[in-house]
Formats: sequence, C-alpha cells, structure tokens
Amino acid sequence: GRVAVLMGGHSAEREISLASGTECLAALRARGVAAEAFDPAERPVAALADYDRAFIALHGPGGEDGVIQGALEAMGVPYTGSGVLGSALGMDKWRSKWIWQAMGLPTPAFHVLRPGDDPAVVIADLGLPLFVKPLGEGSSVGTARVERADDLSAATEAARAYGDAVLVERCIEGPEYTVALLDEEILPAIRIEAGEAFYDFNAKYRSEATRMLIPCGLPADAEAAMGDLVQRAFAAIGASGWGRVDLMADAGGALWLLEVNTIPGMTDHSLVPAAARARGIEMEELVWRILLTSWR
Ligand code: DAL
Ligand code: MG
Repeated sequence: GRVAVLMGGHSAEREISLASGTECLAALRARGVAAEAFDPAERPVAALADYDRAFIALHGPGGEDGVIQGALEAMGVPYTGSGVLGSALGMDKWRSKWIWQAMGLPTPAFHVLRPGDDPAVVIADLGLPLFVKPLGEGSSVGTARVERADDLSAATEAARAYGDAVLVERCIEGPEYTVALLDEEILPAIRIEAGEAFYDFNAKYRSEATRMLIPCGLPADAEAAMGDLVQRAFAAIGASGWGRVDLMADAGGALWLLEVNTIPGMTDHSLVPAAARARGIEMEELVWRILLTSWR
C-alpha cells in the first residue's frame, strides 16, 4: 500500500522535520516501500485518507503532540509511534514531570511561571543556575540556561513566545545522556558532550564541537539501570512504539529525567540513528522497524 511520510508542518522545528522526513523517505524507498512525502502545511490533512498508512516524521506542536495522531485515528489510517495520549503528554514537559513525580521517578525540581508570578520565589527555592523552557517545544527552541538572577526575566520572556506558562527547572550539571527505544528494544545509551554551554539548537544541528559518545562510558549494570528507568518513564506517560528519553546525571551519578521525545530527530546529525547503528541496525532497517510500529 501507499505510505505517506509526514514531514514539515507548522512548528518551529519545521526545517528539522523536513530533514528527518527526507532521510526516512529515502530509507523506506530503498526498502521497496511505496512512500511519498506529505507536508501538512501544504496539503489538507483530509487527503491522508487516501493513504494506507502514515509514517510521522513531524516534530513539535501539531505533529508530535497528538493533533495529527487524532486526525489519523479519526480517519482510520494507521500511523507510526505513540498514540494521542502519549504524544500529548510527551510534548508537555510539565505534565510529564508531574506524572514521574507521582510515580516516584526522579526529575529535577521545577516551577511553572505564569505572567505576574514572582521569579524571586523560584530562585529562592531552586537556586542558580536554572533552565528556562517553553512547556511544549523541541530541539531546545526557546530554552535558556540562566546563571544570574537578573537574567531570569529576559529568559522567561523569550520562552513566552511559545506560550504563557514557562517551565523553570533546577540545573543538573551533567553529563547528559539519551536513550532510544525501538519497540521493546532499548538501544545503546549515548553520552552527549556539547561544546557549548548546553546541548542547544546550535549544538544539536550545527556545531561540529558536539560529541556523541557510544558506548556511553557507564559500567554495564549502570547502563542497564538507566535503560530500565527510561522504559518506565516512557510507559508512564503512555508513549509507545519508538522514541527517545533525555536525562542528566548529577555529580553523585544519580539520574534525573528531563523529557520524552515521541518523534525524535532522524536527520544525519541525530541521536537515534547513531544509537541504532551502534547496535548494528542501519538506517534502512531502523526506519522499517519504525514503520512496523504502525501495526498494532
Ligand atoms: N525534537 C528533536 C527533533 C529531537 O528530540 O530529536
Ligand atoms: Mg524534546
């Protein structure tokens, strides 16, 4: 049957999605799949009813947050990755953290700042430095590391471009790890070393100074424990199929969950293809296995 590879869309991560989608489209075609690019920003979503299946390579609001998943669900078109609930919660950093806290899973302490809230209260509680993030964006869009109390309001204002409520999170100094899940399989963990102050948009897609370390350098039992935590965090928010969980380790080696990405980047700079390759799963096989998550 015909497979629509959804890419592009309207979010701040449109260009990343086009790059992810282009890689996935090529890999599916190499595998003999009748795949076609479909950009929901250029065509009515109702046209998806003409396809047998959807491979979703959209990032950010509108594509990764349950909206397109709900439309496909209503049209009866099977699609890859998480369903409506897991997608919606995965895109919501605040509610993900609430769920993890309720389940006793570790995630850095945080506040949600709304217009009019007093930032001094947040600094008194969480200390400095801090991370300021929009609640529902990816690729570190709108995210800043704040070192000085005076810089908090500017960072909060910048994050507000993506929504009134802003997440302020205690800073864990790292190292940063990320773990990809491919169905029941946990792929090798990656340790990320950004040449910049943190793994921001530039470090993710442009900088040559960013290093992805695989193996991640942890002893086997510690990596297995991280995989177990990641699997529980992923299941806790209702995510399924495939995805990637980002975490930080503190100076004592304790792990802290940052967020789930239900449609992680699939560009040639991206983490999931690198983790898969370390397991001996090349791009074509990886993308084929992601397509298989649409049978459920
Ligand atoms: N949001 C980007 C695409 C990622 O998580 O890889
Ligand atoms: Mg993300």
